Amino acid sequence: MPTLTWTPELALDHAVMDKTHQEFVELLSATEDALAVSHEQALACYESLVEHTVGHFGQEDRWMAATGFAPENCHSFQHAQVLELMHEVTRLAKTDADFGPLERVLPELGRWFAMHAQSMDAALASHLDQLGFDPATGVLASAPAAAPITGCGGSSCSPAATATTAESETA
Ligand SMILES: [Fe+2]
Ligand SMILES: [Fe+2]
Repeated sequence: MPTLTWTPELALDHAVMDKTHQEFVELLSATEDALAVSHEQALACYESLVEHTVGHFGQEDRWMAATGFAPENCHSFQHAQVLELMHEVTRLAKTDADFGPLERVLPELGRWFAMHAQSMDAALASHLDQLGFDPATGVLASAPAAAPITGCGGSSCSPAATATTAESETA
C-alpha cells in the first residue's frame, strides 16, 4: 500500500509541474512496492527517484531564478535540504548496506511531498501564472518585481514573498 497516491488535491493547474509531480508519486510508490521484493530492487528504484528529484527540484529552482526569486529563497533551500537527505540515504544503503534509512524515508517523503506541493509549489505555480511564465520558452508576459523574492509565498512562510529592496540593503 503506497504512502501517497495521486489525487486531484495534489494538482496545481500547472501542466509541467503536475506531470513532474505525478512522476514523483509513481516513482515513490514503485520504490515502496520494490521494498516488498528485495532491498537491492528497492535501492535501484530509489536511485531513479533521486535522479528524477534532482531534475524536478532543478526545474523549479530555475523557474524561480527566472522569475525574480533570490538564490537563497526558502523554497530552493528546502529542496537542497531534502536532496541532501535523499543522497545520504543512498550512501548508507550502498556503502554500509544499511537499508533502515531507506525504509524509513519513503513514508516521510510521501508526507513531506503532499505538504510541499500544497504550500511552496502551489505558491510557485500561482506566481508563474501571474507573470504569464512559459516554461517551454522561459518567456514572461509580465516583468517580475525588481526586488529579489526571498520568501516562498506559501502560507507557512512568514513573511510571505519577502522582497528585499536594493535600497534597504545598501542603506
Ligand atoms: Fe515540486
Ligand atoms: Fe518545490
